[in-house]
Amino acid sequence: MFFYLNLNELVGYSFTYGEVCFIKREALKMKKVTVFIGSPRKQATYQAAQEFAANLKSYGEIDIEYVFLKDYHLEYCRGCKSCFVKGEEFCPLKDDRDILLEKMNNSDGIIFATPNYSFQVSALMKTFLDRLGFVLHRPRFFGKAFTAVGCCLTALEPMIPLEQKKISQEIKKASVRFYNELTRQTLPAPSFFRLMVFRMSRTSIRLMLDEKSRDYRHYKEKGWFESDYYYDASLGIIKKLTGHFFEFLGKRMATQR
Ligand SMILES: Cc1cc2nc3c(=O)[nH]c(=O)nc-3n(C[C@H](O)[C@H](O)[C@H](O)COP(=O)(O)O)c2cc1C
Repeated sequence: MFFYLNLNELVGYSFTYGEVCFIKREALKMKKVTVFIGSPRKQATYQAAQEFAANLKSYGEIDIEYVFLKDYHLEYCRGCKSCFVKGEEFCPLKDDRDILLEKMNNSDGIIFATPNYSFQVSALMKTFLDRLGFVLHRPRFFGKAFTAVGCCLTALEPMIPLEQKKISQEIKKASVRFYNELTRQTLPAPSFFRLMVFRMSRTSIRLMLDEKSRDYRHYKEKGWFESDYYYDASLGIIKKLTGHFFEFLGKRMATQR
């Protein structure tokens, strides 16, 4: 069963096997969601993405764009690391990477949909993710909702109705979570894991790199060597203390090398 109560804000909940998923916030404006499809075919992965999108559209005003990676010219990363060291504009490959990046920049929500090929994402999706490796060095996209839709849930095809029903329930739960992220009004406080990534990365960048490195200059320009996190986030006392501990660990790791 799935229904909404329309009070001053949109409030909805769905029941799936006794689990209640709340749709918490109202979408203030039309949200743009881009689905990057890593299958060379328009079949199970696309259908799962469409089901996900139909759920989102039933919660609020959403503009969905499907981007089939197979239709774009994307070369394999050559491993030169120019994007890490000098900047992404120095990548020697001249292909459609920046068109795809622009689509991500212009989206409020991003979905990576891929089939499972040999217990991995497809080669199309992996190539795309490799070409975005510099984003892990210089994070961006704060405030955007991300999720992955994987199409692998059974190796036996065609699926029986019970399997299909279970998948639909999982898709519904994931789409509620995604919608809540999409319509979030404020940036979230970092989890301990994310705080650790930020503090340890910035400590090693500060100690091991210098002005010659794009990462170093980026952290400096953004004020990330002094800030609590990538963006203004109120950290409680426990997270503040843990943040110092992560910096201590980062320093030990950097100086022991
Ligand atoms: C090369 C290849 C490898 C695959 N490996 C797996 C696998 O490891 N596990 C799995 O559950 N399904 C695997 N599959 C099945 C696909 O994940 C499944 O057919 C999926 O629905 C394909 O998505 P599509 O219909 O969007 O192309 C594989 C399929 C191919 C073609």
